[in-house]
Amino acid sequence: MASLPRTRLQARILSSEEEEKLQRDQALVSDFKQQKLEQEAQKNWDLFYKRNSTNFFKDRHWTTREFEELRSCRDFAEQKLTMLEAGCGVGNCLFPLLEDDLNIFAYACDFSPRAVEYVKQNPSYDTERCKVFQCDLTADDLLEHVPSESVDAVLLIFVLSAVHPDKMHRVLQNVYQVLKPGRCVLFRDYGLYDHAMLRFKAGSKLGENFYVRQDGTRSYFFTDEFLARLFVDTGYEEVVNEYVLRETVNKKEGLCVPRVFLQSKFRKPPKSPAPTSHDPDPGHTA
Ligand SMILES: C[S@@+](CC[C@H](N)C(=O)[O-])C[C@H]1O[C@@H](n2cnc3c(N)ncnc32)[C@H](O)[C@@H]1O
Repeated sequence: MASLPRTRLQARILSSEEEEKLQRDQALVSDFKQQKLEQEAQKNWDLFYKRNSTNFFKDRHWTTREFEELRSCRDFAEQKLTMLEAGCGVGNCLFPLLEDDLNIFAYACDFSPRAVEYVKQNPSYDTERCKVFQCDLTADDLLEHVPSESVDAVLLIFVLSAVHPDKMHRVLQNVYQVLKPGRCVLFRDYGLYDHAMLRFKAGSKLGENFYVRQDGTRSYFFTDEFLARLFVDTGYEEVVNEYVLRETVNKKEGLCVPRVFLQSKFRKPPKSPAPTSHDPDPGHTA
């Protein structure tokens, strides 16, 4: 996998054929079908795991390397960190992370009951180091499982793209409650014009940059601006927000394909220091 320079200003430039394709495929899926997809989102992901078991996603060993934040948010080397992986799937990110770093305790959740069960059945699942639970991040309160402001880092890895854009802010509000002030959400997901976006057939478009796969699961493709607005409007501060461009070889098609991801870090603002007794009370004018 070759690594190309990162750019903050734009996702990749499309060829004229690619531009034409996107222009051509503008018809949207009917409202009725869209509502059905929203109602059945959980079921469709659960069926995805029924079909693919734990075999679909590769283990993501890059997480600690790329998100050196996980190490750098320690005050001393052996400090225990608490993290939350929201939308953990079957643990492709979670288990490599726990293996890499023995001083992490991880909460992990997903709305697919099957995915949660696969995590529990994984031989590396250890309740001393990990707690997995089922949760719809757009509807259920994380505070039922995770204490308020107790988490040092939240991972959102290829999860927000699966959520309807109208509900994405609910996910960010939900994780905000459990994140310690001054700590970050670490985000990686599909970027605008990723190869996957160009592969959707006509009739798969749900809205701007939002598509449905054959199996009913959906995928949004982020611009850095859209993501920043979403986080900032929920109260976070932007720390890093940049496209990562890669070329991967698709062996089946014998092609080198351009991948675009968005990798970002948004911080919950630190608590402002409590006013000291010397501070004048602005409410009193005497
Ligand atoms: C592409 S998978 C990524 C899984 C994992 N983060 C990884 O990197 O391997 C997206 C996951 O998001 C979960 N998901 C989608 N919408 C969700 C929601 N509203 N609440 C909780 N999980 C959700 C799906 O069940 C699925 O497991």
